[in-house]
Formats: sequence, C-alpha cells, structure tokens
Amino acid sequence: MSKQVILTGLRANNDLHIGHVFGAMRPIIEMAANRSDEFQVNMFIPDLHSFTTPIDHSQLQAQIMHNIRLFVAAGLPLDNDSINLYRQSYIPAHSELTIILNSFTGMGEMGRMTQFKDKQEKLSRNVIDSGEISVVGNADSDRARMLASVASTRISVGLFDYPVLMAADILLYGASYVPVGDDQSQHLEFTRDIAERMNNKFGDDLFVVPKSVKKQHAFFGKEQGLRILDLVDPTKKMSKSDETGKGVIFLGDAPELAAKKIMSATTDDLALIAKNHEHQPGITNLLELYEQLGGDSTEFIGQTQYGAFKKAVADKVVVFLTEFQARVAAVDDTEIRAKLAASEKAMNEQAQARLLRVQQAIGLRDVKQQ
Ligand code: ADP
Ligand code: TRP
Repeated sequence: MSKQVILTGLRANNDLHIGHVFGAMRPIIEMAANRSDEFQVNMFIPDLHSFTTPIDHSQLQAQIMHNIRLFVAAGLPLDNDSINLYRQSYIPAHSELTIILNSFTGMGEMGRMTQFKDKQEKLSRNVIDSGEISVVGNADSDRARMLASVASTRISVGLFDYPVLMAADILLYGASYVPVGDDQSQHLEFTRDIAERMNNKFGDDLFVVPKSVKKQHAFFGKEQGLRILDLVDPTKKMSKSDETGKGVIFLGDAPELAAKKIMSATTDDLALIAKNHEHQPGITNLLELYEQLGGDSTEFIGQTQYGAFKKAVADKVVVFLTEFQARVAAVDDTEIRAKLAASEKAMNEQAQARLLRVQQAIGLRDVKQQ
C-alpha cells in the first residue's frame, strides 16, 4: 500500500513572517524530518495562486526561490525521496483538474468563502481609497454601490476560483493531512465536499477525502489551528498584508528591529500575565509566541509586570532570527534546483495518473486506456 500523504503549499507573494513558520512550515517540516518512513510529504509553491491578487510579476521568480530557501532553512530535508518539493505550475495536471472541478462547483459555494469576501472587500476599498476611482455622492449607499462596481471589474475569476485550484492541489496526490492555518480551514472543508461529491457521482475510490479539520488538528497535536496575532493590533492575525509592518516579525527583519517590535507590542492594563484569548489577546499572543520559540511560559504566568516577560520574548526572537538568517545564507541553490527537478518529475507521474482516472470517470478518456 502506498504511504499516506501530508501536503501543504505556501504562496510566494511577499516576505514570510514568523506566523508562517509556526503556523504552516514547522508542522509539516517536523513530519518530514521525523516520519518520512510512514508518510509521503509534499511541500510546494502554489505559483498559479500568486496572481489571484495583483503582484509585481517581475519579482515572482526571485520570490519563489527565496521562499524555497526559507523552507530549507526551516529544516526541510532535501535528501529524502519521500519528501517532495515542487512548483504547482510545473505540474499541468493541477490546472487541468481545476477546470474539471469547476464544472462541479457551485458559484454560491465559492461566493460564500470568507477569504474571497475579505479580499474582495479589501481590494475594492484600496482602489477607492487610493483615489484612482472616486465615489460620486456622499451617502453610504453611494460608496457601497461604488465598491460593488469596482469589485465587479477588478476582482478576478482567479480569486473567486482560488479554492478549486487548492482542492486540485490536494486531491491530485490523495493527501490525507493538509496542515494550514485556521484561515484556510474553510477551503479544506470545501476540498472534502468536492471530493465526496465526485466520489458519490463517479465512484468511491476516485479521490481520497482529506481528514476533517478536527482530525487534522488531533494529528498535529493541536486543539485548534495556531494563529499568531498582529503585535500592534492583537485582534487580527499577523499577516504579510499588514501595511505598516510594525505588528509583523518578518523572517528577514534585522533581529534588533524585531526585538523592538516585541517590546512595543500592545498588551493591556490588567497587570497579570495570563492566557486569556478574549480579554488579553496581546499578552496571550506573546505567551504563545514564547512557547513556539522554545520558551517555558509557565515561568511567567501569574506575574504582574510585563516588562521582563517582553524582554524574554524579544531575546528568544533575536536568537531565532539570527540563527534562521544564517541558515538561509548558507543554503545551496544547486541542491534546491536538483530537488525541484527530481520532485517535479515524480509528482508529474503521480498527478497524471490520478488525472487520467478522473478523465476516465467523467468520460474524457476511454476506460480501457491504462
Ligand atoms: P497572509 O495572511 O500573511 O497573506 P497566507 O494567507 O499566504 O498569509 O498564509 C500562508 C499559510 O500560513 C497559511 O497556512 C496560513 O494559515 C498560515 N499563516 C499565515 N499567517 C499566520 C499566522 N499569523 N499564524 C499562524 N499561521 C499563519
Ligand atoms: N491557500 C493556501 C494559502 O493561502 C496556499 C495553498 C494553495 C495551499 N494550495 C494549497 C495550502 C494546498 C495547502 C494545500 O495559504
């Protein structure tokens, strides 16, 4: 029997931050490093997802290589055949399966996706706020109408269809486990839905249905998806789309700058170090960050002063970034290119085999063809 597959993708749009390392990269890299005898581990760059929102296309190639170096620096082993590292667009089956799945996906289903709604809203607001298009009239309804009109011309079908491509990424390899942050859970649920829908219609063994989000968390030893919060506004997640960068620790930040960001992180005036997501999101976030950085947060819980604790977190961040950046600088691009070539060849074979089964099931290929 073939091994169960663990798979994840990380877009290469912007500089990655520590939330990406702890939320997305580390869980799968730990699996890759420790359990590759039991699992096939696929880590890939969803490059076709890169321009679902506008980007500087001239930078994409450099960004992709840079992000791959970050994976290696975060501990992804390159010398193991059970671990695959590849770029989505190098495996045409991803695009082909997306086109097929599109015809079995409802418009309403996609329109309900929170990430789509958020990004649509944000992009449209940016266009209006930049003054590029002005709102005629002062009423809220004038602005709402303008937002809707901007959305209809500026929001791409690619953004709308994003989850279908993501489902294809997962289903082509029969992945059971897909470690992602909790903002991606809805896309994972959709992947399960479309897999079940296709299996019901075309036969139970067409697709492996990925495990439920709950089972995924149990597998990775977490009660819920990790969400590192913005340091300035701890009611939202740390995100590379943050405009000021003050609330985000980027992997390329100078360690001293990162330390300053921690020291000026928003906390509260309750004068108690405690884990309380609802009432003390800032301090709770720092406690979780400290744990992710290898610290023992119980040493600080119950204390009434925040300064020493913040300093301890800042020190850990400095050590983490210094070591991480040294590893990035030491990565050998020749090894990466060789790994990409080998994985892309092997994954084309796996993906193509699954695609053929789908093509046969839906009548695009003769079933006798093997
Ligand atoms: P961003 O929101 O910064 O644009 P992406 O949407 O590209 O990031 O997220 C890439 C992956 O990293 C996803 O699996 C996402 O859930 C995870 N991730 C992003 N930000 C965080 C965070 N602050 N905490 C935990 N995981 C995160
Ligand atoms: N949508 C994911 C994100 O924004 C990236 C992604 C694309 C992905 N395809 C995937 C993650 C397949 C896991 C599996 O973070």
